[in-house]
Amino acid sequence: MLLAQISDIHATPGSEGLDRLAKVAEWLHGLRPDLLVITGDLVDDDWQEGYKTIGAILRTMSCPVHVIPGNSDCRDMMHQELVEFCAASQPMHFSRDLAGLTCLGLDVTVPGASHGDAAPHCDWLQRALEPGRPSVIFMHQPPIETGIVPLDAVMCRNSDAFAEVLENAGSGVLAVVCGHVHRPISGRIGRTPVYICGSLCEPNPLVLGSRSAPLLTDAPSFAVCEIDRGHFRHHTISLSVRT
Ligand SMILES: [Fe+2]
Repeated sequence: MLLAQISDIHATPGSEGLDRLAKVAEWLHGLRPDLLVITGDLVDDDWQEGYKTIGAILRTMSCPVHVIPGNSDCRDMMHQELVEFCAASQPMHFSRDLAGLTCLGLDVTVPGASHGDAAPHCDWLQRALEPGRPSVIFMHQPPIETGIVPLDAVMCRNSDAFAEVLENAGSGVLAVVCGHVHRPISGRIGRTPVYICGSLCEPNPLVLGSRSAPLLTDAPSFAVCEIDRGHFRHHTISLSVRT
């Protein structure tokens, strides 16, 4: 089973994000994933035309598509332009059963804030997770620190409560898959692996505390999750920086 993930387009008028999205959509037509999840931050500055264009691109997809919001998203515009791809309720969680796998979208965004918060959503998640059933959780802000200090201030708070829900679900949660950081990073919360998808906008530089990594130009990227006989693999697919 293949789950495609796109995150952090941050489209603005004249930016390359929408062109990159169209190219990724074309590539995914050939791959034919079972599901595409967009993990938030679709546009900046409440650019409604951007949501409209994203909706037009997503309507060309041959696989089911779910969208959850990020901190830069406008929920009202998402409901207007992406109605068939996102939950009508607030928060905008989703749950989708594929053959033998539950895919959950957990909307941990906090209106008006950059950080996320898992605490208000732990009850929903607890009910949505069937102990022992293979599941993948998509969310915008990661529940782990990345080592990139300015970004760690705006991650998903109350990760201890979130970790407790995962623990209660036993070994069923194969992975937590996030965005928000604009760099592919992996880590772990309790026993569960966490994968952060790269962005379709320009990646953030690698800054580790007081240690500065030499500057280089990373490429925008997206991800494909492969679930094979209970094993979960998260593949990063980079776009040419000229794409
Ligand atoms: Fe974000």
